[in-house]
Amino acid sequence: MLLSILAVALVVLILGRLTETRENLTNRSVHSTCLQIAQSISSASGVFFAGDAEYEEDIEHWATTSIQSSACSVEPGTAEDVGRILRILGETRTPFAVKGGGHATNPGFSSSAGVQIAMSRFSGVVYDAHSQTVQVGAGVLWDDVYSIVEPLGVNVVGGRQTGVGVAGFGLGGGYSFLTNQYGLSIDNVREYELVLPNGTVTNVTAESNPDLSFALRGGYNNFGVVTKFTLQAYPQGQVWGGLVVMSPGTFDQFNNAILKFIAEVSDPKVGIIATYDSMSGTVLPIALLFYDAPIPPEGIFDDFLAIPAEEQNVGTRSMLSLIQAGGNITGFRAAFDTVPFVQYTPTILDALVNETQFWSERLIPQSATLITWAVELFLPGFLSKHPGIESAYPPSRAQPLLPLCLSFQWNDSSADNAMRDAIVQSAQHLTAVAVAEGQNISEAPVYGNYAINTTPLTRIFGEQMPRLQEIKRQYDPEDVMGLAGGWKIQARE
Ligand SMILES: Cc1cc2nc3c(=O)[nH]c(=O)nc-3n(C[C@H](O)[C@H](O)[C@H](O)COP(=O)(O)OP(=O)(O)OC[C@H]3O[C@@H](n4cnc5c(N)ncnc54)[C@H](O)[C@@H]3O)c2cc1C
Ligand SMILES: *[C@@H]1O[C@H](CO)[C@@H](O)[C@H](O)[C@H]1NC(C)=O
Ligand SMILES: *[C@@H]1O[C@H](CO)[C@@H](O)[C@H](O)[C@H]1NC(C)=O
Ligand SMILES: *[C@@H]1O[C@H](CO)[C@@H](O)[C@H](O)[C@H]1NC(C)=O
Ligand SMILES: *[C@@H]1O[C@H](CO)[C@@H](O)[C@H](O)[C@H]1NC(C)=O
Ligand SMILES: *[C@@H]1O[C@H](CO)[C@@H](O)[C@H](O)[C@H]1NC(C)=O
Ligand SMILES: *[C@@H]1O[C@H](CO)[C@@H](O)[C@H](O)[C@H]1NC(C)=O
Ligand SMILES: *[C@@H]1O[C@H](CO)[C@@H](O)[C@H](O)[C@H]1NC(C)=O
Ligand SMILES: *[C@@H]1O[C@H](CO)[C@@H](O)[C@H](O)[C@H]1NC(C)=O
Repeated sequence: MLLSILAVALVVLILGRLTETRENLTNRSVHSTCLQIAQSISSASGVFFAGDAEYEEDIEHWATTSIQSSACSVEPGTAEDVGRILRILGETRTPFAVKGGGHATNPGFSSSAGVQIAMSRFSGVVYDAHSQTVQVGAGVLWDDVYSIVEPLGVNVVGGRQTGVGVAGFGLGGGYSFLTNQYGLSIDNVREYELVLPNGTVTNVTAESNPDLSFALRGGYNNFGVVTKFTLQAYPQGQVWGGLVVMSPGTFDQFNNAILKFIAEVSDPKVGIIATYDSMSGTVLPIALLFYDAPIPPEGIFDDFLAIPAEEQNVGTRSMLSLIQAGGNITGFRAAFDTVPFVQYTPTILDALVNETQFWSERLIPQSATLITWAVELFLPGFLSKHPGIESAYPPSRAQPLLPLCLSFQWNDSSADNAMRDAIVQSAQHLTAVAVAEGQNISEAPVYGNYAINTTPLTRIFGEQMPRLQEIKRQYDPEDVMGLAGGWKIQARE
């Protein structure tokens, strides 16, 4: 008896040692990959380690659940250096991540225990009046783009809240305040500067490479690392909008305002995010309103503005000021999920009120600080602004869907599973409510930048999967980009 206990203890000890040794070996080899990278890059780039200020900034993310300690971070300064780095990572099969603005809410999508690539040195924002485009580096935040191009009287189709990166937003889809006028962000990319998985730098346009142009529009980090986006520019003056935090108990008026908006508004200059929130247990509606002119026509937002409010900061302002008016809550654990609706109905809006109340009672005691269901209203036709554009997402434009974004933020790591289970359950319940009303959405495409990481890939890319797999086979046969996290497309056999 004693002997067998000793034997078991010995096995446990040996196994423990083995695991430890394997881990140390892995760590040693990742570390040596870092050194190899440091030796091969130009002086425009840098490699950093724990303790360096650059390293801390490089691994930083909007959600603390998206932060990982990496063996090192790399800030490439040229596309050629990105190529050298990708070749070394591919040859050594080293896990890595590529970060733009670091707003991915799925853990491991832009963070890694291996090598963290931070694109921050690709910081250029250059307007070209002749071609009516803005060249934007892949490390730039939308705040930076707006602050530079607005004084020039132009704008691009970009983010609606402060801190979001151009890269992840612009490679996944990009629902913007300008989407009702000009489509998704991915519809407005004229050219990509792309470092292919084998390290070759190339320019991609719809004409020069229809396959990669299609694949990059929604295909995230599967086809290489983008270093520069050339975006379509549009004239831009002062806008109107801001945040309205309505009083608790006003959901009936809020739902009526949304339904009237859906029924009556057809002016493409509008943008609106209508949210159902619990802020530390206080359940209330919040709206972020937008109109692309200094003053909106009468009638469009009157019903929202008539609702008793705790805070109203609407007015004439710049786009930059508008996206920064929406609040800047960061530093929490977080998860997103999504439901694609054909349309919002009274039943669905009532269900949203119930969800907010129901989950507020259950999740606030478990350290939730802010839980939100965000209704984004787009007008019919918002996906048809650029006929002929081929994109990986959405897989079909025949039936434009309205993405609900569920966003949960909390504080305690012990609540991670409960929060993730809850957000999925809520999305499933709301899907069932819409299906019961006849909306055919149980298998409908979802937006990858909002979807939780357990979502099957086919839900994002649908019938585009075979073409994406074929392009993957052609451009990344060694699956170098598979060493990075995210929505991973596997090459077709
Ligand atoms: C507060 C907040 C507000 C948001 N608002 C909106 C909104 O209004 N509309 C909307 O559509 N979405 C919105 N989102 C979702 C947003 O689009 C995604 O979080 C997006 O991933 C952010 O891009 P990023 O560069 O900041 O992310 P990152 O976390 O840096 O990257 C996201 C993904 O893109 C990949 N990637 C990054 N850079 C590159 C590159 N150079 N080359 C190849 N792959 C790269 C990463 O590997 C990762 O898979 C919001 C998110 C948050 C947290
Ligand atoms: C592995 O790493 C651990 C922790 O750093 C250390 O205690 C141990 O001595 C290392 N073992 C080997 C074989 O390097
Ligand atoms: C190995 O690296 C991982 C991630 O970088 C880290 O979590 C772990 O503690 C390291 N182990 C050792 C033994 O250093
Ligand atoms: C890509 O286009 C830019 C001009 O925008 C040009 O300077 C560069 O040489 C091109 N790169 C390649 C690899 O063709
Ligand atoms: C938002 O918060 C981050 C982190 O605290 C900060 O770096 C950034 O400047 C803030 N942005 C605004 C517009 O306040
Ligand atoms: C409220 O939401 C919960 C959780 O989704 C659900 O179980 C319940 O049936 C809903 N109640 C009503 C009245 O819709
Ligand atoms: C989050 O947790 C930290 C410590 O775990 C605590 O100091 C902080 O006050 C908490 N914040 C909120 C908003 O609960
Ligand atoms: C329902 O949607 C699925 C895809 O989401 C589609 O394949 C199917 O044809 C649709 N059914 C009807 C009846 O429209
Ligand atoms: C990298 O891949 C591209 C596209 O497949 C190819 O044209 C190019 O020759 C390759 N470069 C190298 C160095 O193999």
